[in-house]
Amino acid sequence: MKKIIIAPSILSANFAALAQDVNMVENAGAEWIHIDVMDGHFVANITIGPVVVKSLRKATNLFFDAHLMITNPEKYWLDFRKAGVNLITFHDEVKCDKRRLIKDIKSSGIKVGIAIKPKTPVSKIKELLPCIDLVLVMTVEPGFGGQSFMEDMTPKIKKLRQLIDENKYNCIIEVDGGINSRTSPICIKAGADVLVSGSYILSAPNPSKALKSLLI
Ligand code: DX5
Ligand code: ZN
Repeated sequence: MKKIIIAPSILSANFAALAQDVNMVENAGAEWIHIDVMDGHFVANITIGPVVVKSLRKATNLFFDAHLMITNPEKYWLDFRKAGVNLITFHDEVKCDKRRLIKDIKSSGIKVGIAIKPKTPVSKIKELLPCIDLVLVMTVEPGFGGQSFMEDMTPKIKKLRQLIDENKYNCIIEVDGGINSRTSPICIKAGADVLVSGSYILSAPNPSKALKSLLI
């Protein structure tokens, strides 16, 4: 069976003890940390910036998966790169020169991803698939943790799987929002490679057990 990566989202962590929570999920077997960056403009919530990421970088060697829910990724991506993230995912819905940004992020030596909100169809990013390392399918409206999984996003995951496999693109599929032990098998069967999970893991009485329960 193919390997599934679990990326706990620090959005549901205790921000006063971020390093502790990150180390906890690391000990529980996480390989990635999903970092939700929100600017209060692209989404109706504000989280953290590069300063926090830079400090967190000193606490762990885990792969930092930065999900930029910001209006102006062109302006800020390099700050996150310098802070030590390993992957930068920005949204297709922002207005910018996407091909240029993809190229810039890649040539800085890290990986690049494109995220799509629930209302954005796969056809919108089809042409970019050969140039990116990851595509992130949002299964909730971006902005907040703890929302319910939108099951009608499953066909999008399947469609992407098909496109990627048929064309042998070097791109993996990440699913983000409402992932728990009930919804993870749906995503895995549809073709997901990476599952983001915030509240389900970090609010669990036993995060390690919760994390393992996502792997069918
Ligand atoms: C939502 C974020 C998600 C969020 C997921 O905008 O992109 O990464 O943290 O949280 P859960 O797993 O609680 O839905
Ligand atoms: Zn996210």
